[in-house]
Amino acid sequence: MTAATDGALPPWRQRLRGALKREGRQVSARWLQLATVAADGTPRVRTLVFRGWSGAAQLELYTDGRSSKTAELTHQSQVELCWLLSKAKQQFRLRGAAAQVAPAADQSQWRSLSPSGRALWGWPHPGQPFQSEAPFPQELPEDAPIPEHFIVVQISIQQVELLDLSHHPHQRLRWRHDDDWREQRLNP
Ligand SMILES: Cc1cc2nc3c(=O)[nH]c(=O)nc-3n(C[C@H](O)[C@H](O)[C@H](O)COP(=O)(O)O)c2cc1C
Repeated sequence: MTAATDGALPPWRQRLRGALKREGRQVSARWLQLATVAADGTPRVRTLVFRGWSGAAQLELYTDGRSSKTAELTHQSQVELCWLLSKAKQQFRLRGAAAQVAPAADQSQWRSLSPSGRALWGWPHPGQPFQSEAPFPQELPEDAPIPEHFIVVQISIQQVELLDLSHHPHQRLRWRHDDDWREQRLNP
């Protein structure tokens, strides 16, 4: 993971950073919703943990390569993320494309997880019928081999919309990558 330098940060990253700061140590501040499109054209949405930035406008998520979303992303890479920062009363909607959906390139991502966080990749195939005799480890150590289904998803952000409810009237702002991240104010 490379940290973008401050000077290169798109303006919406600064707004997001401000909102994240207000959340303090709240773990839920790193939860966001990822919407994908299934092969039959119907929508899917679920919560994921934001894992960090891999570029000024590229964020990282971790998932299980056996999960439905991985197949959905391979079929249709366009996604929308919804990130609610409740203390700041701000909603960020980020549109983008899954630039990479691949096994972890190095150990750092796998090692960045807690032992209990890693354990999920030692569980049986997600979404399949539950079998009580199947192993559900509580922890996986740092030196456990990286499972092939430990997938890092990199989302390249193309457009960001912020709705800020803390002002009267509410503030709705939009930035587009193909418009050099110029800020445009919209009616809320
Ligand atoms: C708070 C929270 C955080 C989650 N974080 C992740 C995550 O980082 N990666 C992930 O693949 N699933 C995460 N999940 C589980 C997903 O929401 C989802 O249930 C799972 O990935 C299967 O989704 P799919 O069948 O659409 O692929 C999280 C769920 C919750 C409630």
